[in-house]
Amino acid sequence: MKESKRQKKYLIKTYGCQMNEHDSEKISWILERMNYIETENIEEADFIIYNTCLVRENAEFRVYGNLGSLKQLKREKPDLMIAVCGCMMQREEVRKVILSKHRHVDIIFGTHNIHKLPQLINNHMKTGETIVDILEDGREIIEDINSNRKYSYKAFVNIMYGCNNFCTYCIVPYTRGRENSREPENIIKEIEELAKNGCKEVTLLGQNVNSYGKNLQRNYSFTDLLKDINKIDGIERIRFMTSHPKDLSDDLINCYATLDKLCPHLHLPVQSGSNKVLKEMNRNYTKEDYLKIIGKLKEAVPEIAITTDIIIGFPGETDEDFNETLDLVKEVKFDSAFTFLYSIREGTKAAKMENQIDEKLKHIRFERLTDTLNEIALGINQKLLGKTLEVLVEEISKNNAEVLTGRTRTNKLVHFKGGKELIGSLVNIKIENVKTFTLEGSII
Ligand code: 5AD
Ligand code: SF4
Repeated sequence: MKESKRQKKYLIKTYGCQMNEHDSEKISWILERMNYIETENIEEADFIIYNTCLVRENAEFRVYGNLGSLKQLKREKPDLMIAVCGCMMQREEVRKVILSKHRHVDIIFGTHNIHKLPQLINNHMKTGETIVDILEDGREIIEDINSNRKYSYKAFVNIMYGCNNFCTYCIVPYTRGRENSREPENIIKEIEELAKNGCKEVTLLGQNVNSYGKNLQRNYSFTDLLKDINKIDGIERIRFMTSHPKDLSDDLINCYATLDKLCPHLHLPVQSGSNKVLKEMNRNYTKEDYLKIIGKLKEAVPEIAITTDIIIGFPGETDEDFNETLDLVKEVKFDSAFTFLYSIREGTKAAKMENQIDEKLKHIRFERLTDTLNEIALGINQKLLGKTLEVLVEEISKNNAEVLTGRTRTNKLVHFKGGKELIGSLVNIKIENVKTFTLEGSII
């Protein structure tokens, strides 16, 4: 009897991007309303959920590998419930693999039906059968799911879902469906509520935030949204991810100069510096367009930090194309970049392209690119020596209990000494030492 009253424990493992991280916060909220409590110890979990990513092959393989190792756990603990959800589940061929090779999985759901989780759990418990529930596209936005957010002082807020761009390498439009914007009132209400509860920084999430509002009934754009969020008391910092260079308007650039809460940092994926490759990628801008945007941004806000995503070894990428990417990197002087080896994603256009690049060559180019990026990043950071920067204190450093970490408005990671009571507050830090990826300093 006692055993049945014990609160059941859940563990969510999240793969992939911020969108997935935030979906996991929603799943967590749903489960806690069902009286589950979170655990980080896999051995004591009654319910394990893998929220999966399909954007590159290595993320996919890791999911299969980790699922395989749950088989033994399930044998030892037959009552253990296992669910897999997220982008991988939107693909029929993946579901087939799970159903045939990972029969210890109890529930499969996708990116558009997280809200149905309680029903799926009940169905599984009643029937003991494997429940598969997938919605092919999320036309309807479900507003009544809340989130069990990891931090109280900073939060992710979805502003739109899906992507219409169909970059030829990318699987996301097939797993997240078409663009669909939330109504501004719902976004504002959510952020006002966050601010009331002490949240200082919001990161607006969407696959292509510059397209925000295009499918709304009224004329209301991404910059209108930024202007409205800028008025919310208590919110001190606004960030967003991700934007597409083809839709980056002068109006948005102007927001950087006029909205005090909009952080001077833009993540603007360039993917390649070769116009030929950009065309093959279906990116709809040229290297020159990209450089023009960067020029205008730096003119409007000289201290702005620019970060990017770059893919190495897209089909047909020649040494010349790669050198153009290196040249672009040197010209823009990115503060940092996520660099990816091109990974074939079945179902995308690029997967069928013939001139795939040898893996060894991809690795050689990758090393050259990261060396160049790191040198530039260190150079930019060195210019910050002696400066005083505003930092939002985030947490205690994993390596040293006396050291705190936080981020500048330009999104640079800073280490400094201080007590944990400062977590969640804004402090001024004098920068005394810099590395490629971090700054170090003291509170003043
Ligand atoms: N191979 C390598 N990188 C990819 N990305 C998306 N699809 C692929 C792929 N097939 C990268 C892009 C994107 C980031 C989120 O992931 O750079 O901006
Ligand atoms: Fe993928 Fe391109 Fe859409 Fe980004 S904009 S999610 S890279 S298809």
